[in-house]
Amino acid sequence: MTGHTLQAANLSKEYGHFTALSKLNLKLEGSKCIGFLGPNGAGKTTTLKIFTDMIRPTSGEAFINGINVHFDKKKALASVGTLIETPEIYGSLTAREALSMIAEIKGIPKSVVKKSILKVIERVKMKEWLDKKIKNMSKGMKQRINIAAAILGNPDVIILDEPTSGLDPRGMSEVRSIIKDLKRENRLIFMSSHLLSEVSEICDEVAMIDHGKLLAYGPIGEVVSKFSHDGAGEVEVSVLRPVGAAVLKRIRGIGGVGSVKRVDGRTFTVRTSGGIKEQEALLSRLVKMKIGVIGFKPSSSALEETYLSVFKETV
Ligand SMILES: Nc1ncnc2c1ncn2[C@@H]1O[C@H](COP(=O)(O)OP(=O)(O)OP(=O)(O)O)[C@@H](O)[C@H]1O
Ligand SMILES: [Mg+2]
Repeated sequence: MTGHTLQAANLSKEYGHFTALSKLNLKLEGSKCIGFLGPNGAGKTTTLKIFTDMIRPTSGEAFINGINVHFDKKKALASVGTLIETPEIYGSLTAREALSMIAEIKGIPKSVVKKSILKVIERVKMKEWLDKKIKNMSKGMKQRINIAAAILGNPDVIILDEPTSGLDPRGMSEVRSIIKDLKRENRLIFMSSHLLSEVSEICDEVAMIDHGKLLAYGPIGEVVSKFSHDGAGEVEVSVLRPVGAAVLKRIRGIGGVGSVKRVDGRTFTVRTSGGIKEQEALLSRLVKMKIGVIGFKPSSSALEETYLSVFKETV
């Protein structure tokens, strides 16, 4: 089932004379993960805060599942989980106490609160920390509690503002795997990030903004191909067994393939002419070659090239 939506309709936000968002139009729909990219100060957090009614737009509207966030906040926010620049206000509470408070705010029925908390705390692998004070937790643990809070009540739309920012590599990887897990469960996830490798690993689509304006939106493969100088896209392929030069040569011979570059024994990148249709065709050819394809994703270096080209003239 799809049908989850997040929509910004002509959203503008002014802080005094400063325009943080300028008539932003964006409609996200379905069960997928969308990366929200843009330089510092682009307007990402402002947009995400408007979606959760933490701030009001100067003009325009924000909708969650078709419900206007500002007119019917309670109903709109009932189906959304958020993690946005959370100041540490719950430090002196235990995880259980903090999650109980959040459950109350979310209007989760008292009879199911205990069960719901157990479910989310297990989800973020923090069960043994449930009765420990949050202030004694590491940054990564706190972030996992924040994620538990966001997914409390099983929302079908999840908004995350730089969910892995400030975490060590293990913390990042744990948070990423939680997000990937959530993705498998028919949800719409909108996530800002400055980490392009993370976005190409987790997200299906990207929205790019700067100076409060949308510059690009679409499936990663399509956006990459649209902004690359030769209209080419690039994917990174991982295989089960090391591939030899002969296999790479065969791949080079596939129609629409521009170049093939080895990353390591079990990983290589393939440049294709065109966008996701060509990539889909490439994947089915690779599968038929029986080389044990276990990973196929937009290459993060291609997304980085795209990012640099989209944002090069905006300082
Ligand atoms: N309360 C505020 N008062 C004045 N200006 C603000 C306020 N909040 C945000 N801004 C400005 O609005 C612009 C957009 O900020 P925002 O936090 O949305 O950017 P961002 O894309 O999230 O950036 P970052 O990647 O650094 O998190 C920035 O120039 C910021 O200084
Ligand atoms: Mg921000």
